[in-house]
Amino acid sequence: MATPALLEVEDLNAHYDKSHILHGVSMRIASGEIVSLLGRNGSGRSTTLKTIMGLVKPTSGHVRLDGRDLAGERAFRIARAGIAYVPEEREIFANITVEENMRIGVQPARTEAPAWTVGQMYDFFPQLKQRRDTAAGMLSGGEQQMLTMCRALLGNPRVILIDEPTEGLAPKIVEVVTDMIREICRKGVSVLLVEQKLTIAMRVSARVYVMGHGEIVFEGTPDSLRGAPEVRREWLEVS
Ligand SMILES: Nc1ncnc2c1ncn2[C@@H]1O[C@H](COP(=O)(O)OP(=O)(O)OP(=O)(O)O)[C@@H](O)[C@H]1O
Ligand SMILES: [Mg+2]
Repeated sequence: MATPALLEVEDLNAHYDKSHILHGVSMRIASGEIVSLLGRNGSGRSTTLKTIMGLVKPTSGHVRLDGRDLAGERAFRIARAGIAYVPEEREIFANITVEENMRIGVQPARTEAPAWTVGQMYDFFPQLKQRRDTAAGMLSGGEQQMLTMCRALLGNPRVILIDEPTEGLAPKIVEVVTDMIREICRKGVSVLLVEQKLTIAMRVSARVYVMGHGEIVFEGTPDSLRGAPEVRREWLEVS
């Protein structure tokens, strides 16, 4: 018997104008589970996150959070229901300080678990604490990425969708981001991660989905993917 899903995506289809991009995507993520969505460039991973978040309107299918169907709702409603999204492009407010950027994201806790605090964010990323009174636009690209993650987390989501969080980060910061993702799941928050670095995705995830041409082509544990070289060759590795 499968564990009950907190987030359940069922038979999701999405188009950009006439191009059919997502073809019947189905995925399930339990509470506190880290799941990675893998695939080559252009396979439809970001579109999947955007469609779950309501930024791309699905043409059909379901996105259920704790049984409630959110497919087709506007993005702010989906955010309010408890899904957060960290896009590939950093989303900071350049003219206000680091700390103000964080405080803008704060929402009350949605479960019995205590709410995340700004102090915890500074524990994750001490360099943001050092720069708390700096205008966010002055931060490096990596620091802006961290700040975007912190703001999403301070919204106390039940599920967080993270698109390529380690892209362009120094190896030491990649470690911090990986630790943060683990800590997120320890609090019972579910993570759907799009991560280009296969070793990181395999290390943090309980399960992985592989996407090719807008379809899920493989689903299993990291170990089962390690044992499926043909899947990696066909859908992941650049030849
Ligand atoms: N706004 C858009 N309008 C039209 N086509 C788009 C748009 N965004 C993405 N696409 C197309 O949809 C397909 C899936 O793109 P998507 O961004 O989901 O891929 P991805 O797996 O996230 O890869 P990557 O991040 O490497 O680009 C690609 O063929 C892409 O060119
Ligand atoms: Mg993408």
